[in-house]
Amino acid sequence: MPAPRVMFVNHTSTMSGAELVLADAVEPWPGATAFLFEGGPLNAAMASRGLSVTTARGGGGLSGLRRDSSPLGALPVAGRLVALVAQIARAARVHDVVYANSQKAFVLSALATTLARRPLVWHLHDILDSAHFGAAQRALQVRLANACARLVIVPSRAAADAFVAAGGRAGLVEVVPNGLSIDLDLRPRAAIRRDLGLPDVPMVGVFSRLAAWKGQHVVLRALADLPGIHAVVAGDALFGEGAYADGLRALAAELGVSGRVHFLGQRSDVPRLMQAMDVVIHPSVHPEPFGRTLVEAMLAGVPVVATDTGAAAEILDGGRFGTLVPPDRPDALADAVADILAHRRDLEPRLAGAAERARTHYGVAAMRTRLAERIGRAAAGAAPAVVPAP
Ligand code: UDP
Ligand code: GLC
Repeated sequence: MPAPRVMFVNHTSTMSGAELVLADAVEPWPGATAFLFEGGPLNAAMASRGLSVTTARGGGGLSGLRRDSSPLGALPVAGRLVALVAQIARAARVHDVVYANSQKAFVLSALATTLARRPLVWHLHDILDSAHFGAAQRALQVRLANACARLVIVPSRAAADAFVAAGGRAGLVEVVPNGLSIDLDLRPRAAIRRDLGLPDVPMVGVFSRLAAWKGQHVVLRALADLPGIHAVVAGDALFGEGAYADGLRALAAELGVSGRVHFLGQRSDVPRLMQAMDVVIHPSVHPEPFGRTLVEAMLAGVPVVATDTGAAAEILDGGRFGTLVPPDRPDALADAVADILAHRRDLEPRLAGAAERARTHYGVAAMRTRLAERIGRAAAGAAPAVVPAP
């Protein structure tokens, strides 16, 4: 059977975790297309993988619509949203299946695929709980999913449970864990550090976009209790959290730790930076849908401390392959880091086990196969797409 013609839809073209997953996921779909609401790095990433990319007219800037506001907040841009639905519906008619990779892409695609009578897959990269979304937004999303989606794919059990708890149909949701691969730098850590211009002192790192729920402020507070230890903070405010990013620098100064914090901005060499760290911290204060950085740190062979919320316990096998601490507790975080630094040599078996688990449970090839199987299943049985005349 020929591979189904898939149209991948995303509302932002900024590369955060969900877009990095999408770029990896489309590798086996050279004939597929991408419908992106705006121009940006994702457009180039999709084109470089052989997809023909359509950039919507008037679709930019929708990241500004807040997740915790009422859907009525979208009224000022209602005209643009209607036009986008029409564009998606038109494009969907010549595809066998539509695959929405973000929440905003899903809501508009749900309406568009209903009009175009195409099956819809939603890759839901979020936890649909009250920490992340307002009640009205959650209700809208699960109702649309129950009515319009053939399948909802999530990266973790935690995300699946939240979808069902919000009212989503349990039979609709399937877990496909994110898959990653990294290039390892095989040189000794001291050489990597020298290259990066980082001092030869005990050092922890946090590698996430800057946003309050990602919890970088908790790391700064923990650092105040960890004399002599430095922290790398990699990442930028990607979705309008500039005030939080400024606040982090002010907080570091207020805590008297500025001289020990290296704000590196958004980086394209995260795996190498991780290999230069003594500990990688994943400090999210709200449930994390997945957390690619956890798997990256496992592959890099670096000890991990993560907050026990969302998918972290699944990925770290209940704490066997990383230390779990309660969210938003700088004291517990500082204790966990100090403990790892004091017992670094004893951790070798745990690190080897973590890397093995990352390779066997979170491989990129397995993710592609699983996604392709589910896309094929969703497309099966749909009425044939309208193929344009040559
Ligand atoms: N990342 C990056 N550069 C940075 C900080 C983070 O490339 O400076 C990457 C990180 O390595 C990870 C991704 O961004 O692969 C973030 O994905 P994650 O699932 O952790 O979270 P998200 O930010 O999408 O919620
Ligand atoms: C989202 C989530 C993150 C997840 C990524 C890819 O950005 O916040 O936890 O790893 O999507 O699924």
